[in-house]
Amino acid sequence: MRTPQPSTDPRIAVERLDITKPADVEGLAARLPEVSLVVNNAGVLQGGGVFGPLESAELEMRTNYFGTLAMCRAFAPVLAANGGGGLVNLLSILSQLPMPPAASYSASKAAALSMTRSVRAALASQGTLVMAVMPAFVDTDMAKAVPGEKLSPEQVAQTVITAIQEGIEDVYPGPAAQIAANIQRDPRGMERQLAGFALE
Ligand SMILES: NC(=O)c1ccc[n+]([C@@H]2O[C@H](COP(=O)([O-])OP(=O)(O)OC[C@H]3O[C@@H](n4cnc5c(N)ncnc54)[C@H](OP(=O)(O)O)[C@@H]3O)[C@@H](O)[C@H]2O)c1
Repeated sequence: MRTPQPSTDPRIAVERLDITKPADVEGLAARLPEVSLVVNNAGVLQGGGVFGPLESAELEMRTNYFGTLAMCRAFAPVLAANGGGGLVNLLSILSQLPMPPAASYSASKAAALSMTRSVRAALASQGTLVMAVMPAFVDTDMAKAVPGEKLSPEQVAQTVITAIQEGIEDVYPGPAAQIAANIQRDPRGMERQLAGFALE
């Protein structure tokens, strides 16, 4: 996070990080040579359709794609030095299905999914588990404009932990599993279903 809260838990060392700043990312990787698991959770959702402000689309691409890519690049050699380990990228089911009111977010997550697959191939020989996590809506600040039921962040975290233990590469927490199956079966039908979706 760019604005982390201090922790009183002695097991937790808090570091400030802006993933859009290469010097921050490289500095962190250099300070943490013992890391064996990296969870790239940082992300932004600006909202805005294809004709929304370009600045919003650029920030989403800079953070969700280039920022996550910078983390993967910086920590790949650290993970290799520690036996392979794991790299977990928090993407979104919207990486596979465009949602018109968040078109540029969907595009940035689609780019991040493609990148994650390439990183997986590139790091296979060093034994790194490279995971793409693709939830639907999660009950956080990001999704506060979205009505209806959402997964809790704890449910997503638990699913990720189980997936790490089982070595699963593509992870669909909760209802995302059914959505992913529907996208496989009828991609155009799913696209039409989301065409009328509006954020409050
Ligand atoms: N909520 C959902 O419905 C949902 C669904 C699918 C996937 N996701 C994904 O899940 C991940 C977590 O999102 P969330 O729901 O917890 O969203 P959130 O409530 O908006 O939190 C986003 C987090 O990312 C950090 N962040 C943003 N830009 C950053 C940067 N440049 N450098 C470092 N940290 C940065 C924020 O901290 P600072 O602002 O302090 O930096 C914050 O901790 C994201 O990748 C998101 O795209 C969320």
